[in-house]
Amino acid sequence: MKQKPTRRSRGVILTLKGWDKLQAAKTEAEFKDNTRERFSLEELSDRMSLSMHTVSRILGRSKPVDKSSLQSAFAAFGLELSKSDYTRSIPPCDSLEARQASPMYDWGEAPDTSIFYNRYEEMSQLQYWVLEERCRLVTLLGIGGIGKSTLAVKLGLQIQDEFEVVVWRSLQNATPVEDKLTSILQFLLWALRKEIVIPQNFEGKLSKLMECLINHRCLLILDNFETILSSNSQVGQYRPGYEGYGQLLKLIGEVPHNSCVLLTSREKPREILPLEGERTKVKYLQLGGLNPNDGRELFQQKGHFTGTEQEWEVLIKHRANASKFHNRDHV
Ligand SMILES: Nc1ncnc2c1ncn2[C@@H]1O[C@H](COP(=O)(O)OP(=O)(O)OP(=O)(O)O)[C@@H](O)[C@H]1O
Ligand SMILES: [Mg+2]
Repeated sequence: MKQKPTRRSRGVILTLKGWDKLQAAKTEAEFKDNTRERFSLEELSDRMSLSMHTVSRILGRSKPVDKSSLQSAFAAFGLELSKSDYTRSIPPCDSLEARQASPMYDWGEAPDTSIFYNRYEEMSQLQYWVLEERCRLVTLLGIGGIGKSTLAVKLGLQIQDEFEVVVWRSLQNATPVEDKLTSILQFLLWALRKEIVIPQNFEGKLSKLMECLINHRCLLILDNFETILSSNSQVGQYRPGYEGYGQLLKLIGEVPHNSCVLLTSREKPREILPLEGERTKVKYLQLGGLNPNDGRELFQQKGHFTGTEQEWEVLIKHRANASKFHNRDHV
């Protein structure tokens, strides 16, 4: 008789103490191995006899794994797993607090996505581009309030285990490119356990960032990219003084690397135009409104609204920005 396969119970994550222990042993091993600065995810996977996916889950501490996987990870560095090194996993939680407790992910001031409807098609398209096609630059385009940032966070959270580091930054305050690069590098270098030495000039910062993107699998999300584009001139032109962001995008799209940069923008940046196409690693997705049912449900979360079927359809198609409609009796 065929035996039913037993379901593996995936239920533990490292405690901070356990994580520190593993990191310390790993750093020590990296130090002894003087040919390389840091073990890549692939090397860790070989060494621990675990898939890269499981290694990311263990190091990210956000998703549960089998206890036996933790034992293999520890054994790879001559450690023995003790009770205080792991805990029963906490139920999945989208709160920013919980996300920020995970040291490899810097979600900065990313919006909360605890309420999220639909976008299944967009989500699977984006996942395919990022994970299967390994696209280097993916842009989410759409009018204000259509849901670009929300979708970018949701996507990032769903795929973060596939990356060594995830960094979210908003350009809302039109930060000069050098300052933005410094802030990104500060986290990246720290998370990748590299020496935190940030070059003084723009070119130096740019090449340091590219070095990280080439040698590691990072997900960098730049929200509100339109802030630094000039809205009253030709498509995707930069505001004076912000042209460096164009150089950044050009390198990200053209230089082969292992990472993905995800942009959200109301306007299409100029640099992504010549590179677009089925076979390139640069893609963009133009977001439309939610489907009518989900859109209506979303509005009901925000207040009390009524309207005819036709009015709802027009509203949801053309205006996903619920914040623009205050509690009125009629849409
Ligand atoms: N799929 C969704 N499910 C639930 N709420 C959503 C969804 N998409 C967007 N929202 C809500 O709609 C509002 C606007 O979304 P969001 O901020 O993501 O838009 P945006 O396109 O990034 O806008 P902007 O161009 O102004 O940055 C937010 O309150 C967000 O919570
Ligand atoms: Mg936004």
